[in-house]
Amino acid sequence: MSGDLGGRVVVVTGATAGIGAATGRALVRAGASVVLGARRTERLDEIGAELGDAALTVEIDVRDPEAARHLIEAALGRFGHIDALVANAGIGAYGGIMDLSDGQLRDMIDTNVAGTVWPIRAVVPHFLEQGRGDIVIVASVAGLRGAGDEAVYAATKFAQVGLAGGLDRELRAEGIRVSTICPGGVATEFAMGAGRTPDMPGLARMLRAEDVAEAILTVLRQPETMRTLVWSMRSIHEED
Ligand SMILES: NC(=O)c1ccc[n+]([C@@H]2O[C@H](COP(=O)([O-])OP(=O)(O)OC[C@H]3O[C@@H](n4cnc5c(N)ncnc54)[C@H](OP(=O)(O)O)[C@@H]3O)[C@@H](O)[C@H]2O)c1
Repeated sequence: MSGDLGGRVVVVTGATAGIGAATGRALVRAGASVVLGARRTERLDEIGAELGDAALTVEIDVRDPEAARHLIEAALGRFGHIDALVANAGIGAYGGIMDLSDGQLRDMIDTNVAGTVWPIRAVVPHFLEQGRGDIVIVASVAGLRGAGDEAVYAATKFAQVGLAGGLDRELRAEGIRVSTICPGGVATEFAMGAGRTPDMPGLARMLRAEDVAEAILTVLRQPETMRTLVWSMRSIHEED
């Protein structure tokens, strides 16, 4: 497919739903090739069939460093190089510190923090060899300030913002740009059943996954001489 991102290869984690799936679709529309990683194989097959040859789907759990290395190796095997990694996979559980179980908290920390670190560690050697590359981390406005009823989630998102700040200092001179996208509420499956329902009228007033995908593409379209560190975005309707 022709488009201004033609020839680019972008790896996206958490690509079976929400922001990741919207980003995969937008990238292919813009001419890029995509490597889409997530756990649900049926959903991967569906989006792979929809996007055709421009997409490679890989079943991975971002909590596993070996799986993250497999994702990057599969991308290089198919397309030969990688221009960008969008570290998007994430989960959220709402509730007070004593309301959530040990397992829920561990899953959130492992997915959002370790699950961001492993794919980055897997791709950085390739970016260093290439002398360039983009890392875009999908964090949250919760990662810029505390959030009631989601303190541990916010902590994982602060961790992503901190990771990006450190990596920018570590890798900028090597030609690697590290950006953090921090959306407010986005109408996705995220948190359905834990504070949101698909028929909630408020969903129409939230950001759409496609809006966040456009922001990610904008970051990837920056001139080589420019970098975006943190991009915070909210729906026009979101008050606080
Ligand atoms: N929705 C919001 O209000 C909002 C706001 C700010 C920031 N964010 C952030 O945006 C990112 C995407 O969220 P979303 O709203 O698009 O959520 P979503 O619709 O629930 O999608 C989450 C994606 O992450 C994948 N995923 C979850 N755990 C995974 C794991 N262990 N390994 C691999 N993939 C995994 C899921 O795929 P599988 O289940 O198939 O693995 C799915 O594709 C998250 O980091 C979230 O924190 C969301």
